[in-house]
Amino acid sequence: MNDLFLRACRRQPVERTPIWLMRQAGRYLPEYRAVRGRTDFVTLCKTPELAAEVTIQPIDRLGVDAAILFSDILVPAEPMGVSITFNPGPVLDPPVRSAADVDRIRVPDPEETVPFVFETIRILRRELAGRVPLIGFGAAPFTLAAYLVEGRGSKNFEHLKRMIYGDPASAHRLLEKCAATLESYLAAQVRAGAQAIQIFDTWAGLLGPADYREFALRHARRVLDSLKDSGVPRIYFALDAGHLLDEIRECGADVLGLDWRTPLAEGARRLGPAFALQGNLDPCVLLASPAVIAERARRIVAEGAHAPGHVFNLGHGILPETPVEHAQALVEAVRGARAPERKP
Ligand code: CP3
Repeated sequence: MNDLFLRACRRQPVERTPIWLMRQAGRYLPEYRAVRGRTDFVTLCKTPELAAEVTIQPIDRLGVDAAILFSDILVPAEPMGVSITFNPGPVLDPPVRSAADVDRIRVPDPEETVPFVFETIRILRRELAGRVPLIGFGAAPFTLAAYLVEGRGSKNFEHLKRMIYGDPASAHRLLEKCAATLESYLAAQVRAGAQAIQIFDTWAGLLGPADYREFALRHARRVLDSLKDSGVPRIYFALDAGHLLDEIRECGADVLGLDWRTPLAEGARRLGPAFALQGNLDPCVLLASPAVIAERARRIVAEGAHAPGHVFNLGHGILPETPVEHAQALVEAVRGARAPERKP
């Protein structure tokens, strides 16, 4: 059993720094594109045998130290009462814009409404057979609400911000429904066999510190706290959130993800000894040469020694245009680097 990832999350000693990559199953892999040529993305997520197959592709191809369930953060949104399509970005319909819209949003039973997610996890635990641990995941309440209100990705999320600033009571009611949905959804993932949980707060960085505390942190903390007794490591990743580190320290996670805008040494200094860190190579580095990739990777492995535990990752999802050999060069460089002496 390769448990380097779980040990690093728990701030226990490791022989070398473990690595996995956000969006490691995806379009940069020819074998993923082959499966996608035959099925659309939503069907892929809802078909356990196929979802399990693409989850394992990057384990075989790259030799990463953890698998992440193939799914999407928006899967639990559908049973909350909106339809979802991908084109290629997500489109949710109808968007949730008013108090009456919030009333219509349901808090679904996950086992009844998205059983394929838990079936995929059970298949994966059997097929992985201890090769690497399996990470489950979901959105943070704020990021799920952001898509429900906006109806799609957006630069400024104006509809979401109009609700937060103009009708905070409705925003909180929606965030509470998201938090309740995510609590039971993630608990069910752990029951099915997920060995760690990552919570993606992709849009939290759009907020200033006070609003982040009120509209994002509070609700993320509730979900993270609800998983504490399950014993699995809980990873919280907020993109572009270097201005929120003082607040993020209170989120209650075991591991904090950082992107490349915050150096790991600075993150470790500001976040303190209670958190392992995950990150933080700019995914665009993978567009440069293997020599550059290896040099940048070694620097991050060395910087990770300032944290009490370090899981190597990108600072955001791998880009579809990444050459597979470059992703392989990255994993080779990190696996070849000796564990640095810890100096948190
Ligand atoms: O990491 C993994 O390999 C597991 C699978 C995974 C996907 N999405 C598959 C996916 C995970 C963990 C996610 C999380 C996710 N989804 C996030 C949070 C992380 C982040 O990127 O900030 C967000 C914001 C989403 C919403 C989403 N899903 C968007 C914006 C898009 C379109 C962008 C794109 O890459 O096309 C998706 C689609 C999506 N989710 C794809 C994959 C592999 C591409 C679908 C395809 O095959 O066309």
